Amino acid sequence: MRRKIVAGNWKMNTTKVDGVELAKQVAEASAEVPAEVGLVVAPPFTHLCAVGKALAGSKVELSAQNCADHTSGAYTGEVSVDMIKAVGCGWTILGHSERREYYGETDEKLVEKTKLALAAGLGVILCVGEKLEQREAGKHFDVCAEQVKNVLYHFSAEDMKNIVIAYEPVWAIGTGKTATSEQAQEIHAFIRNVVAEKFGAEVAEDMSILYGGSCKPSNAKELFAQKDIDGGLIGGAALKASDFIEIAKSF
Ligand code: PGA
Repeated sequence: MRRKIVAGNWKMNTTKVDGVELAKQVAEASAEVPAEVGLVVAPPFTHLCAVGKALAGSKVELSAQNCADHTSGAYTGEVSVDMIKAVGCGWTILGHSERREYYGETDEKLVEKTKLALAAGLGVILCVGEKLEQREAGKHFDVCAEQVKNVLYHFSAEDMKNIVIAYEPVWAIGTGKTATSEQAQEIHAFIRNVVAEKFGAEVAEDMSILYGGSCKPSNAKELFAQKDIDGGLIGGAALKASDFIEIAKSF
């Protein structure tokens, strides 16, 4: 069964004290969110543990924003999947456009990271999406298909049960510009088809595909009403508990 999910990507925001406070507010308000909507928050590594404690007893699941492409050893500054799992995460985001753009995250690395995350028992939220110039050149379908194929075609239908795709047009992230619900639906349906080509219709139907990019309370309803949009990966609006929860109540 396809899951509805609203995930908050806190990026490099909040210190431990702010993060714990935000998590407490989200946890408390999460009772208002319908049972079938999954909630996830992804704070910075430094307060995963403390935020996890603040979420205890609520339905809100914990995610990392990234993981290392090795299991352990001499990789200064990196955080492994086992470390992430050990502090209570159920998920990691991978391949966010900011990591692709600023930290040289390649599809090859994402294959390794996804393998390690799945082996550690983490769910993966894999981000894909085109840049503005790619959309303007009409290449958005090709770009998204390639990103999905380059990573996910290395996995099995069984693995796909623990993977969620987040379509995030780079031109809509943090810019206040949202894809229209028609633009988003069109590409979500296309991405689902790319999944179906390799894994069959059933796997594709069960796959959750989230929209990300300036999703907020005022546009979530229309986006989530689309047939192939199963929720959102929320940046800016996830830093305010009331907005995040309102988005999650928009199905
Ligand atoms: P935004 O970020 O909601 O602030 O546009 C979304 C994301 O990058 O995941």
